[in-house]
Amino acid sequence: MTHARQHTPQVVAHRGASEEAPEHTLAAYKKAIEDGADALECDVRLTADGHLVCVHDRRVNRTSNGRGAVSALELADLAALDFGSWKSRDEEPDWEHRPEDREDTSVLTLERLLELVADAGRRVELAIETKHPTRWAGQVEERLLHLLKRFGLDAPASAAESPVRVMSFSARSLHRVRASSPTLPTVYLMQFVSPRLRDGRLPAGVRIAGPSIRIVRNHPAYIERLKRAGHQVHVWTVNEPEDVDLCVELGVDAVITNRPRAVLRQLGR
Ligand code: G3P
Ligand code: CA
Repeated sequence: MTHARQHTPQVVAHRGASEEAPEHTLAAYKKAIEDGADALECDVRLTADGHLVCVHDRRVNRTSNGRGAVSALELADLAALDFGSWKSRDEEPDWEHRPEDREDTSVLTLERLLELVADAGRRVELAIETKHPTRWAGQVEERLLHLLKRFGLDAPASAAESPVRVMSFSARSLHRVRASSPTLPTVYLMQFVSPRLRDGRLPAGVRIAGPSIRIVRNHPAYIERLKRAGHQVHVWTVNEPEDVDLCVELGVDAVITNRPRAVLRQLGR
């Protein structure tokens, strides 16, 4: 690490502008688009009746006024819940972007998020993370690709042109995606550096590494190795100014952050 590089990373809003608005709600994604985020990150899970919804946890208890596992609930059950009030109650009493529209804090389907992005009026990319895909033995990826196809996003001419990428901690999930949509970019998320990937390789066919910021802080040489091997590097979750600086210095390609507005400002954008 000798000098800062010219290029600045893409700014990806993690679960939307989730520091300021309740995560994974339309309110959080509208705010991120308003703030100028280059891309939106979302986690997807399958409901009991086969809809992809944007929810991080296995259960809805933390982020709604309901209880139970997403996989045991139907979309209509989820639609009756409030995914917004926990934020003002527990986390951010001054949350200033209180929604006027109930839809803004209802459960968000991936389909609705794709509509929002399509109507953004500028290019906004989408980084979709498959959560617990093993449980569903291919159904998450199948539904995801089916939905992307409806929006004309499942078969980009090339990975570089694709406004959508699929991320996962599961190499098998990414493999399933590539088997059906070979040009759709995939991101292998990492919480630690597995010994067999230490030399900078990624699972077959994956071109983008998604290390945690902890990996970046503790193993900057590994990030340089990934870059030298020709991979893009997308880092999560980058909220502290010094971490943004470190990512810029290492030539990271995307920072995934809960604070897109603050990070864009820091990058002079
Ligand atoms: O963007 C990747 C990151 O979101 C993975 O962690 O737990 O926030 O889904 P998590
Ligand atoms: Ca995620």
